[in-house]
Amino acid sequence: MTDRSPDPRESARSSLGRRSFLGGALAAGAAGAMASPLTADAARAAGAAASDGTTSHPFYGVHQAGIDRPPPTQAQPVASFVSFDVTVPGRRELTGLFRVLTERARFLTSGGTPPGTGPRDDRLLGGTVVPDGLTVTAAVGASLFDGRYGLAARKPVQLETMRAFEHDDLNPVECHGDLLLQLCAGHRDVLVHAFLDVLAHTGDALRPRWRADGFLNPPRPSGTPRDMLGFKDGIANPDTGNAQQMNQQVWIPPRTNEPAWTAGGTYQAVRIVRFFVEQWNKVPVGEQERVIGRRKVTGAPLYGTDESQDPVYTNDPQGRVTPLNSHIRLANPQTPDTASTSALLRRSYQYTRTPDPAGDVNIGHVFCCYQRELNTYIAMQTRLENEPLVEYISPTGGGYFFVLPGVRNGEDYYARGLVGT
Ligand code: HEM
Repeated sequence: MTDRSPDPRESARSSLGRRSFLGGALAAGAAGAMASPLTADAARAAGAAASDGTTSHPFYGVHQAGIDRPPPTQAQPVASFVSFDVTVPGRRELTGLFRVLTERARFLTSGGTPPGTGPRDDRLLGGTVVPDGLTVTAAVGASLFDGRYGLAARKPVQLETMRAFEHDDLNPVECHGDLLLQLCAGHRDVLVHAFLDVLAHTGDALRPRWRADGFLNPPRPSGTPRDMLGFKDGIANPDTGNAQQMNQQVWIPPRTNEPAWTAGGTYQAVRIVRFFVEQWNKVPVGEQERVIGRRKVTGAPLYGTDESQDPVYTNDPQGRVTPLNSHIRLANPQTPDTASTSALLRRSYQYTRTPDPAGDVNIGHVFCCYQRELNTYIAMQTRLENEPLVEYISPTGGGYFFVLPGVRNGEDYYARGLVGT
């Protein structure tokens, strides 16, 4: 699941002759912008042809794509979360980097014929790059706001470096990062192509730090997909098609105590969480259900029959039906004092990386959530610190990031409000 800045890649890089960032990548990025995109008609037809790779999601907007997929469209089936360290020397080069990333994301998510100039396309996707529902969601970590680029005064006010919670087993090599790209698409080859394309066009400006790949299980048999513990996961989520809910819970509004450039962005928490599925599977299902707070097969609340029923605790103050320390009740206790820290948007992906180096089963999920305030996530995670579920999970990596506002039009680029003068 996780790739770490491998040394062999360094030599592979030089043998492939990756260009110096300032020398070649900027020009290549501009050339990428001129590559012929799929026509609007093809893109429109894409909605009806989800499996042939032509689905494309609009790149321009107030918000970046890849977060809110209005129903009935689901999140794309595969994802790569790739964290990078930024190595450019100054603000000017950082601005250039964001411009190049914008051009690449615009081209890759629209598809088309790779240009004849710039780094050669690897043709992994054939002669024409298919968008395949690709979204590239760019976010920045707290470390980008250190002394290097003079950005400290522009840091989102709640952005910080993820700390270890109780029971975490964080591995430093798969934590944090200056920049996170969340790539989501219909197929894995499209993610790999996008990743390689970004590397080829950014030269030495970006050094991969860690990567976490995931997939979405299909609904079994219907409704919300299951996680690797066998529970339907992602039921109680804001309605991504409801702008009011999304504005209240996810997007940063225009006038807040946040720096003005952040409007339209959101805080992102990513946690790589290993599940001890073999131990979990020895636990009787009734006990598992009390740990989670929902029925395993149906996803219903413990007193219900269907996943569409909302858990309600007013008649159960002592937790006789839904235990007070069950996962869902700690995440969202439905009490007045937790009302402001109980809503966020979860969009996690499952992973398997078995055997691990010790020969053990390594299965889990890349927990991913977005919220208007990072403090919402932190408060919720703190409530979950000693839940019974901790016996069966082990958070090993991830980080906190700020998802940049959307790219508005052809003149705009990622982070313009942040790095522009
Ligand atoms: C680490 C492993 C985790 C697993 C296996 C897991 C699994 C689940 C499951 C099965 C549900 C019930 C179905 C649903 O409503 O989606 C659920 C609900 C929920 N989880 Fe998690 N979750 C995990 C981590 C987290 C974390 C880290 C957070 C946030 C800090 C979180 C927040 C929530 C919330 C807000 C709900 C809905 C509560 C409600 O309003 O009913 N989960 N989770």
